[in-house]
Amino acid sequence: MNESRKLFVKSFGCQMNVYDSRRMADTLAPQGYVETPAADDADLVILNTCHIREKAAEKVYSELGRVRRLKEAAAAEGRRIVIAVAGCVAQAEGEEIIRRAPTVDLVFGPQSYHRLPQLLAGAERGDKPVDTEFPLDDKFDHLAAPSTAAVRARGVSAFVTVQEGCDKFCTFCVVPYTRGAEVSRPVDKILAEVAQLASAGVREITLLGQNVNAYHGDGLNGRPSSLAQLLEHVSAIDGVERLRYTTSHPRDMDGHLIAAHGALPKLMPQLHLPVQSGSDRVLAAMKRRHTCADYLAIVSRLRAARPDLALTSDFIVGFPGETEADFAQTLSLVGEVGFSGAFSFKYSPRPGTPGADLPDQVDEETKSERLHRLQTAIDQSQAEFNRSCLGRTFEVLFEKPGRYTSQLVGRSPYLQPVQVTAPAAMIGEIAAVTITEVASNSLFGTLARAPAREPSLAGAGA
Ligand code: 5AD
Ligand code: SF4
Repeated sequence: MNESRKLFVKSFGCQMNVYDSRRMADTLAPQGYVETPAADDADLVILNTCHIREKAAEKVYSELGRVRRLKEAAAAEGRRIVIAVAGCVAQAEGEEIIRRAPTVDLVFGPQSYHRLPQLLAGAERGDKPVDTEFPLDDKFDHLAAPSTAAVRARGVSAFVTVQEGCDKFCTFCVVPYTRGAEVSRPVDKILAEVAQLASAGVREITLLGQNVNAYHGDGLNGRPSSLAQLLEHVSAIDGVERLRYTTSHPRDMDGHLIAAHGALPKLMPQLHLPVQSGSDRVLAAMKRRHTCADYLAIVSRLRAARPDLALTSDFIVGFPGETEADFAQTLSLVGEVGFSGAFSFKYSPRPGTPGADLPDQVDEETKSERLHRLQTAIDQSQAEFNRSCLGRTFEVLFEKPGRYTSQLVGRSPYLQPVQVTAPAAMIGEIAAVTITEVASNSLFGTLARAPAREPSLAGAGA
C-alpha cells in the first residue's frame, strides 16, 4: 500500500478541463494520492491550463508565481512540493514554461495524462519531463475508473468526454492545435462509463466534446454512430434522468440530432450553440462555414422539435475587420434569438492561428466598448428569459446546499440555478418546483405539492 500523499488540482477554462482534472485524480489515486482543497499542504500541485485567450494563459503564469512561493515555504520546512503544468498551455508552450517558470517540475499536454505516474517518477528524480505528444493509443484505455466514493463526492451531475479535438480550424481558435484532430470514443466505452456513474448515484450526464456534435465513434454494430444515436443509447441507461451535450458547432446540427430534442424526454431543453457573430462577412473571415441565416434556420428547426428550448451561445467581438455595421448585426441577432444566456469575449489574437495575421485588427478601446454593449444586450435577453419562468412549475435537480441554511440549490431543465427551501436529504432528487421570485440571475422557488411534469412534447420537428 502506498503512503498517502496530497494532490491539489486547479482547473482553468472549459468543462473538459474539469473532467480531465478528475480523471488525473482518478489515475493518481492508486498511487496513494488523495485530493486536498488547499495548495499549501499538497505534495503535488497540478495546474490544468487553458490557452483559448491570452488572459487565460497569463492567469497561469501569475498562479505559478503563487505556487512558487508555496514551494519555497515548504522547502524551508524540509518538504517537497512537485509542480506540474497540464492542459492546453502546456501543449502549446512545452519547454518554454520551464524556461519562464523554472519552479515547474513537469509539463504534459491533454493527450498525455494517462502517463502521469511515469512522468511523476521522472519529475521526482529531477528530470523535468515535458510530454506534449499526440500518442496513437487511446488515453481513455489507460485511465483508472473513479471510485464510487469519488463519484459521490463530485455530485449528482457528471461530465463524460465523448469526443476530443477539432478539425474545423476557425481562424481565431487554438483548439485544433492544442487538442489536435477530432477523435471520438467508441459507444460501448462511453456507455460503460455512464453506467458506472449512474450506479454510483449520478442523475445528470453532460456529454462533452470540443465539437461534440461531430461525434462519430464506433457504434455497437461496428459502424460509426452519430451523436443522436449515442444520446439514444445513453438515455436508455437506468438511473440517468437527464442528458445534455456541449459544445456544438452549427454545421453539425443535423436532422437526427434536431429530432432527438423532440424525441428524447431525458434530453434537457437547453442547448449551447456558439454563433460567434451575427455578420456574414465576419463569419466568413472566421471560416465558420455558416451564415447568420443558416444559424437562424437551425434555431427555428430546433424550436419546432422542442418549443421550450432555451439557447445559449458564445460571441467574439472585435474580430479583425469587424465594423460597426457588422457589430450591429450581432446585436440584432441577440434580439432575434432571445438567448437564455451567452458568453462574450473580446477577440484575442492567438499566435499561430490565421486570425492573428489578418489586417485590420480592431483596437482595444473599440473591443471593450462593443463588449460592454453586447453584454448589456445579453443580460437583457437573459433577464427576459428568467422573468418568463416566474409562476411556472418545472423539475429541479437538487445539487448541493444553497445560499442559506435549509436551502438547496438545484438546476432547472434550462440550466438555471434555482434556490429552494428543501431538506438536505433531497440532494440528488428531482422534484417539481414553482418559481416564485426572479432576482438578477437567480431563480427562487418552492416545492410544488403535486409532481408536475413539463407538458409532453410529442413529435419531432425536422
Ligand atoms: N479570442 C476570443 N475568444 C475566443 N474564443 C475562442 N478563441 C477565441 C479567441 N482567440 C471563444 C469562442 C469560443 C469560446 C470557447 O471561446 O467564442 O466559442
Ligand atoms: Fe475552435 Fe470550436 Fe471552431 Fe473547433 S469549431 S476551431 S473548437 S471554435
